[in-house]
Amino acid sequence: MSAGVPVPSGPFVPAGSVRVFDTTLRDGEQAPGAGLTAAEKLEVARQLARLKVDVIEAGFPAASPGDFEAVRRIAQETPQDIAVAALARCRDGDPQRAIEAIKVAHKPHLHVFIATSDIHLKHKLRIDRDEALAEAVRWVRHGRQELGRDAEIEFSAEDASRTDLDYLLKVYEAVVDAGATTVNIPDTVGYAIPSEFGALVGRVVDLVGDRATVSVHCHNDLGLATANTLAAVQAGARQVEVTINGLGERAGNASLEEVVMALRTRPTQFPDLGSGVQTEHITAASRLVSYLTGFAVQPNKAIVGGNAFAHESGIHQDGVIKNPLTYEIMTPQSVGLTGSQLTIGKLSGRRGLQGKLRELGYELEGDALDAIYRQAIELADAKKEVTDADLLALIEQRASEVPASVVLLGWSVTSSHGGKATGTVTLTVNGTERSTEATGNGPVNALFRAVDEALQPALGWHPTLTEYEIKAVSAGEDAQGQVLVRCRRSSDVGPGALVVSGHGLSTNIIEASLDAYLVATNKLHGAEINGVDVAFVSRRPGTGLP
Ligand code: KIV
Ligand code: ZN
Repeated sequence: MSAGVPVPSGPFVPAGSVRVFDTTLRDGEQAPGAGLTAAEKLEVARQLARLKVDVIEAGFPAASPGDFEAVRRIAQETPQDIAVAALARCRDGDPQRAIEAIKVAHKPHLHVFIATSDIHLKHKLRIDRDEALAEAVRWVRHGRQELGRDAEIEFSAEDASRTDLDYLLKVYEAVVDAGATTVNIPDTVGYAIPSEFGALVGRVVDLVGDRATVSVHCHNDLGLATANTLAAVQAGARQVEVTINGLGERAGNASLEEVVMALRTRPTQFPDLGSGVQTEHITAASRLVSYLTGFAVQPNKAIVGGNAFAHESGIHQDGVIKNPLTYEIMTPQSVGLTGSQLTIGKLSGRRGLQGKLRELGYELEGDALDAIYRQAIELADAKKEVTDADLLALIEQRASEVPASVVLLGWSVTSSHGGKATGTVTLTVNGTERSTEATGNGPVNALFRAVDEALQPALGWHPTLTEYEIKAVSAGEDAQGQVLVRCRRSSDVGPGALVVSGHGLSTNIIEASLDAYLVATNKLHGAEINGVDVAFVSRRPGTGLP
């Protein structure tokens, strides 16, 4: 029994429900190179709120001041029906930081974890089983005392699927006695097979009964994360930990869209169970996360891949035209693919745009709506038709805006067959104007070098490009080009170097490339001068995160 504070009694998840715990902003963000700024994390949290997940795991506050701030802002802003979770190791300092960050939330959800498998205890933590159990109990009890009776306290036994069963059950029993209301069973290294994982979950469900919600957290190393999660639900788990697009460490986590759509599409396999997720917002969430993290979604990815609802062969097309049920087990509309293409022209009004955006899953008004409206009308001047994809790209572009200390005023470039390209740029760095010229093996290279020459004397570094990608947002020769770059500071070498992404969007691909380069530059500069506004958890070495 938790000293001083009564331990709440369950059940905690209403009958018929599976609680959807989204960890895109914590485990997903740990994917190497997926680091988001605090502002970008907020944007994703808003989309998760539209999706109506039950819990948003917003981050790991002890990892960096930036992540603390991001979690705190998400806790402040998230609507009252959605819980905000923060992760903490069972180690002095971590839970206190997490509690500090989430205590402003309407529904704070503290998530503490410690490894329990012998391999982790011996080689990573270098403590024995009794010590791990004592730490688990200590920090669960601390959370209950600090956050009070109504808060959700979740305990995770890291590497549970490779932990000795008797010991694992002993740990879960002890943490429930200490005040945990959710016990999570992570398959940390994606080792489990559905039948055995279901059996393990069944043992924990029998042990804790109504005293705590049983949760699962599956990684995808063997491509079984969704299958294991669903087996766990059939065995009695009532919280699923998932990420948008299956983003996450290594091969990723169980994907939200797959788990939620499986529950919805196969009701007889999950009798009387469902989630509260508004599935029509899935496509918008997938696009936003892919855009902000720079992690493309593979075309054949279930539910959200570009080909998920495309039918190529004649036989399939014929069947779908006669009756979509022949080859579609769910409708594209149910995941937010509207199918309409032509959206806005020069004469369209704000209201029409607002309605269209609502259809695409975005509720915009006031200044935000005005800004997108202006951009959409400008775009309608530059290209024949403004499509859904164009509008989504404009919205995503807005989501990744960063405060700019380096501002581009103008550029020009000459380039010809077989010769070198020469580019000039004029920009301001902290208000001081600089013009530079450089050559390169092509127009983009020449302009990036010119930017580097302007920045080096002013900042003592320039961005070093580690990745460059370009794609057309929609079909047609007048399509907008969307550019993604990843950069680090030239002065920041070594394995822990901060790598950031930047995006650019324009019908002129050189302009889009320069814009992307400058966004990345401004993120790097922002991180240098104001660590608090950025959160790149995945790039902080030594946090000991699973
Ligand atoms: O994979 C894992 O074990 C985790 C825990 C912290 C839940 O991410
Ligand atoms: Zn994990």
